[in-house]
Amino acid sequence: MSQHLTTSPYRGTRDFLPAEMSVRTQVFHRLYEVIERYGFVRYDGPILESAEIYEAKSGQEIADLQLYTLTDRGGRRLALRPEMTPSVARMIAANANTLQFPVRWYCHVNCHRYERPQRGRVREHWQINVDTFGSDSPNVETEIFELIHDMMAAVGATRDMYVLRASDRVLLDGILTQIVGIPADQVRAVSSMIDRWDKYPREQLAEDADKIGISAAQFDRLEGALQAGDKLLAEIPADVLERSQLAKILDGPGRELVTFDPLIVRGFDYYTSTVFEVFDRDPVNNRSLFGGGGYSDLVGLFSDRRIPGFGFGMGDVTLFDFLETHGLLPKPLPEADVVVIPSRPDLYNAAATVARVLRRDGWRTTVPLEPRKLGKEIGRADKAGARVIVILGPSDWAEGNVVVRSMLTGDQQTVSADSAGETVAGILRSEAH
Ligand code: HAM
Repeated sequence: MSQHLTTSPYRGTRDFLPAEMSVRTQVFHRLYEVIERYGFVRYDGPILESAEIYEAKSGQEIADLQLYTLTDRGGRRLALRPEMTPSVARMIAANANTLQFPVRWYCHVNCHRYERPQRGRVREHWQINVDTFGSDSPNVETEIFELIHDMMAAVGATRDMYVLRASDRVLLDGILTQIVGIPADQVRAVSSMIDRWDKYPREQLAEDADKIGISAAQFDRLEGALQAGDKLLAEIPADVLERSQLAKILDGPGRELVTFDPLIVRGFDYYTSTVFEVFDRDPVNNRSLFGGGGYSDLVGLFSDRRIPGFGFGMGDVTLFDFLETHGLLPKPLPEADVVVIPSRPDLYNAAATVARVLRRDGWRTTVPLEPRKLGKEIGRADKAGARVIVILGPSDWAEGNVVVRSMLTGDQQTVSADSAGETVAGILRSEAH
């Protein structure tokens, strides 16, 4: 017996067969439609980038542990993109002279991270990125938050199913230095500890704090501050609030859109202000669905111009887990609306002619490629989800007629081949209601 290669995809990557792809594209198209309704325009870019664009500002975890790197034949060090933000910053920098800012851009790309595959985490995922560049106005943030709620509504989610939580690195720095009393040079280490806060037991966090030189009293104060949630806002000094975009949003109409949560930190070094994550409220899937934030200097990696960016990346794995948990997955679309079946091989060309007319009318129409018994073909058409079949029998066809059958009711009628399109349309349209 010959030894075959494995048919499994590489660990942490997925094949999408047509039925699953149909579900995915329906969901994605609803999302694209909402994003475009806000005036975001779609872009794309290469999956391979110079490795250094991630090493500069994405943060240790991505750069050291999760990057897929390779050296090309010319000795250049490249990486498979683990995220889109450095790439889009590069594109914005490269085209800054011709763009009319602010710009609203979105994309839908696959990203690779070398992670241990587990629920919600894979090695290749698909991310919808939505970002606005070139404005510091709080309106940018409010607009993105509003868009997020509209995107969630478009996939069937209601506000009780998820929550949008945000913090601001400016506020967190103020909380840590002015309320908890952490020295400025320890703020980063403490922030990354807060990023792990919900994932580790208290003893472990206290031990970590001790290691980075945080006293027990400071740790207690930190814990108290974090537990205060949005009540903490009232304690933040006015000069810190003044510098925070998020504070302005929380003080205005945006307060309906977003909840302040000092535990939101996010891993990337490039975020400079607001950071946010959308969480599933269902205890079964109590996890972050997607997130993003503001980055005022990332474009500065590539140019002298300061062009702030604000946006988010929505991953497919967490989104589809969410939709599944809440029973919101659409059904796959059938393979074809209509199957035109010749009852004998010599009627194939005639069937193809009828099919051509139906396709021209916009119906997804197939004709069996190989001759089989009529009964078998009807069974296959049913399995493919066809709602109508058109049967060509020799005597009917000799008189210029075909049989049109509704698969839903089983009713069938003999009509002239010329009016088959109308009859099919009548059945398909009436069943659509
Ligand atoms: P991120 O939080 O690393 O942010 O990724 C965004 C989303 O992509 C996550 O919330 C999750 O849905 C999904 N994701 C990330 N890694 C994986 C993985 N290994 N497996 C499955 N899903 C994953 C960013 O990437 C930022 N660049 C987003 C952004 C855009 N910030 C501003 N603009």
